[in-house]
Amino acid sequence: MSGIRIAVDLTSVSLVRDGRRLLDRVTWQVTAEDRWVLLGPNGAGKTSLIRIASLWEHPTAGRVRVLGEELGRVDLRPLRSRIAVVSPAMADRLRPDLKVSEVVMTGRRGALEPWWHDYGAEDREATESAIGTMGLDQMAGRRFGLLSTGERQRVLLARALACDPDLMFLDEPAAGLDLGAREELVSHLTRLATQVGTPPLVLVTHHVEEVPVGFTHALLLKSGQVVDRGPLAMTITSDSLSRTFGLPVNLAVEDGRFRAWARI
Ligand SMILES: Nc1ncnc2c1ncn2[C@@H]1O[C@H](COP(=O)(O)OP(=O)(O)OP(=O)(O)O)[C@@H](O)[C@H]1O
Ligand SMILES: [Mg+2]
Repeated sequence: MSGIRIAVDLTSVSLVRDGRRLLDRVTWQVTAEDRWVLLGPNGAGKTSLIRIASLWEHPTAGRVRVLGEELGRVDLRPLRSRIAVVSPAMADRLRPDLKVSEVVMTGRRGALEPWWHDYGAEDREATESAIGTMGLDQMAGRRFGLLSTGERQRVLLARALACDPDLMFLDEPAAGLDLGAREELVSHLTRLATQVGTPPLVLVTHHVEEVPVGFTHALLLKSGQVVDRGPLAMTITSDSLSRTFGLPVNLAVEDGRFRAWARI
């Protein structure tokens, strides 16, 4: 970690596209030890918000400070290289017959092919460590394109971890996973969240069932506006979920995991 205490500091950020207000005066701070869940329905603005916080989009209004630097006053390229964004779109850009270890190692340089760069002992060590954290040791020699969706998601997470980011965004990593694969991913995310040296994390999801134990805060978003934000247990409530998703929701919490269903 870089020693910066506030990793993301957004003040009254708005985003307007095609005359529509996709984000409306969002104020949000992520500090170094935080692991945030960003929850909200389809179209709430979750991906837009992390695109701004990961410096891939400029807001229409508001102030954006990331890793201690203010957007608009700093060279974005070196700053972006310290921020990992894991989204399903990445999987399509990687050649299917790359080995898992190659997919992870090329993450060190943000590359798509192993032959673009030379890699040394330090790269191999970081690759092995990331592969271990995501429980992929047995899979390191397998071809990326032959993996299941769940295995592939874990490889993309390991790839992001391999570059030692100072901040990490995960956009719906559990989308499309069956129960077993989801639970496996969630347990690896718990391990990641509680491991020493893990950077601040932001996990985007629609489902409270996907919130891993060890996550500390939640931001609830609806129609571009913050419904609630704060420490996880105080923020994810049946009332706040009902307001966020626009229907009456029951909530159960067991062993630190959440379960939500519509109240009829
Ligand atoms: N560049 C753009 N121009 C116009 N509209 C956009 C643009 N990007 C996103 N939108 C719209 O903004 C809204 C929020 O999109 P966004 O992708 O941030 O939502 P989301 O919360 O991530 O949704 P999902 O859960 O479905 O991924 C959507 O209605 C989307 O169609
Ligand atoms: Mg999205």
